[in-house]
Amino acid sequence: MTSLTIRRPDDWHLHLRDGDMLKGVLPYTSAHFARAVIMPNLVPPVVTTADAQAYRERIMAALPAGDRFQPLMTLYLTEGTNPDDVEEGAKSGLVTAVKLYPAGATTNSNSGVRNFENAMPVLERMAKIGLPLCIHGEVTTPEVDIFDREAVFIETVLDPLRKRLPELRITLEHVTTADGIDYINASKANLAGSITTHHLIINRNNILVGGIRPHYYCLPIAKRENHRQALRKAATSGNPKFFLGTDSAPHVDPLKECACGCAGCFTSINTMSCLAHVFEEEGALDKLEAFASLNGPAWYRLAPNEERTTLVKRDTPVEFPPRIETGAGPVTVFDPLFKSHWDVT
Ligand code: DOR
Ligand code: ZN
Repeated sequence: MTSLTIRRPDDWHLHLRDGDMLKGVLPYTSAHFARAVIMPNLVPPVVTTADAQAYRERIMAALPAGDRFQPLMTLYLTEGTNPDDVEEGAKSGLVTAVKLYPAGATTNSNSGVRNFENAMPVLERMAKIGLPLCIHGEVTTPEVDIFDREAVFIETVLDPLRKRLPELRITLEHVTTADGIDYINASKANLAGSITTHHLIINRNNILVGGIRPHYYCLPIAKRENHRQALRKAATSGNPKFFLGTDSAPHVDPLKECACGCAGCFTSINTMSCLAHVFEEEGALDKLEAFASLNGPAWYRLAPNEERTTLVKRDTPVEFPPRIETGAGPVTVFDPLFKSHWDVT
């Protein structure tokens, strides 16, 4: 196959940041994606419907002229979040989901949830109105090894929460383990999982062998090879419970290449090219549309995009810049360690 036409994809988990960084990275998303679920972990975080409205306006103002793109806003769940405000945001159509960061789990998660009891009134309201909860599924207890944080979260937090609130619709975001895939596969309903591009491509060796490679450091951290294989199998299965959420998370190079580097891979620019390469490797190009364009909208109860995107396999590899320049500084582009011939036209 040398050409593939699919419905225009969406990104169900994206960090756009704000200000100069927003202006620098948004064009790479709006070039390829019709919609994206926008993460609220700004400083200060996007907590209220009014915050989300203002952030949405800043995103629309940063959009290149002529691009059509719809940001799907999320609210950052805190222990003080007001259920009425969440319901109002959801009913107005502005708010697509609420995001749960366990406090301390990742970038700007300090306002996240420490005691889940305090978040129950909001979660109960969300269950009632059918608003999905997007979860960064990692425990933050220091005793738990960083490579086990996802599996322990599923057992000790997610499963009890789902038993307590079976009606709550949950997206387990950026699944990185076979444990996560198995748990989602075994669940009857009300649970879906997003998978990033980079977790389909790297395992933990890529971060650590031959020197520390900060541009592969992200959270949840990439795991062993058997987990990557489980993610590939799920993503290419066509199973509607799994869909693309790139978690493209730009940080300027000085904040990645230092003694305590930030977590995140910037993949918006080459995600579709990389995914076509991966799906072809797996003999599953016919499942790319389900993963990138159909399963996400179905889960979020939105119509799939009507526009089409064509990917063309070139004779020579498609070149991407090693880094992009933004007004905030240089941002290194995710290196998939292969050359993809798939070009988005
Ligand atoms: O790698 C990551 N980067 N994981 C996250 O959960 C947050 C993100 C960021 O905001 O930088
Ligand atoms: Zn993220």
